[in-house]
Amino acid sequence: MSDSSRREFLTGGLAVGATGLLLPDLAIATETSGDLGSYGDFVANQRPPAQAELAATRLREIAVPAGQAPAANARATEDNILGPYHRANVPFRAKITPPLEPGTVLVIRGRVYGLDTRRPLPGTMLDIWQADARGRYDNDDPQRQPAANLFVNRARLMTDENGYYEYETIHPGAYQIGPNAWRPPHIHYWVRKQGYRDLVTQLYFRGDPHQRDDQFIRQSLIIDLREVRIQHGTYKVGTFDIILAAR
Ligand SMILES: [Fe+2]
Repeated sequence: MSDSSRREFLTGGLAVGATGLLLPDLAIATETSGDLGSYGDFVANQRPPAQAELAATRLREIAVPAGQAPAANARATEDNILGPYHRANVPFRAKITPPLEPGTVLVIRGRVYGLDTRRPLPGTMLDIWQADARGRYDNDDPQRQPAANLFVNRARLMTDENGYYEYETIHPGAYQIGPNAWRPPHIHYWVRKQGYRDLVTQLYFRGDPHQRDDQFIRQSLIIDLREVRIQHGTYKVGTFDIILAAR
């Protein structure tokens, strides 16, 4: 083999020095991933500042808030109508809606307190049910009732050691109940704790136009929602604290 053909063989027929085809003299082998424990820090450090802030927001927003004990002159949470759509024995879930349920994602959280002690009440059961984003319940069609083991947009929860509860759901829709009567978006609660009076109530969302067309809503049961923006979208957060009257 001649010198020129040997050189062509070694370089694969490429012109020596073609941009990007040969490694630079000081190249080193691609690194292994190393210590996975530091991966989060590594990723955070590589993100542009705006992305890093959204990532930090995501963590900050899932921190459990401190809570606000009821004032000395606080009153028990107002009750509200049970309505026709409650079902018994729904499963315990941390999420009210099925996976990927259409609608604006909501995180609702709060604490349950005793009016007598003004302290949180651990082990309080919350029975929660709501309409979907179009204002439909899983059992609102008498002709098509759900199977006995099928529960959509319903769950039970227990408060933790600090009286805290939290769930993910979607913003319920309004529904019409008469010619000029609407139920504005709301979430039903049935709250039970031994030694305290059962509380059947509903939470509502500030600013919904259908609140003018509803005779059942109570101003004390309206909460504010705050929008949270994270890397992969937005959701809304609201706080609904509950105060139970002792028996
Ligand atoms: Fe309802």
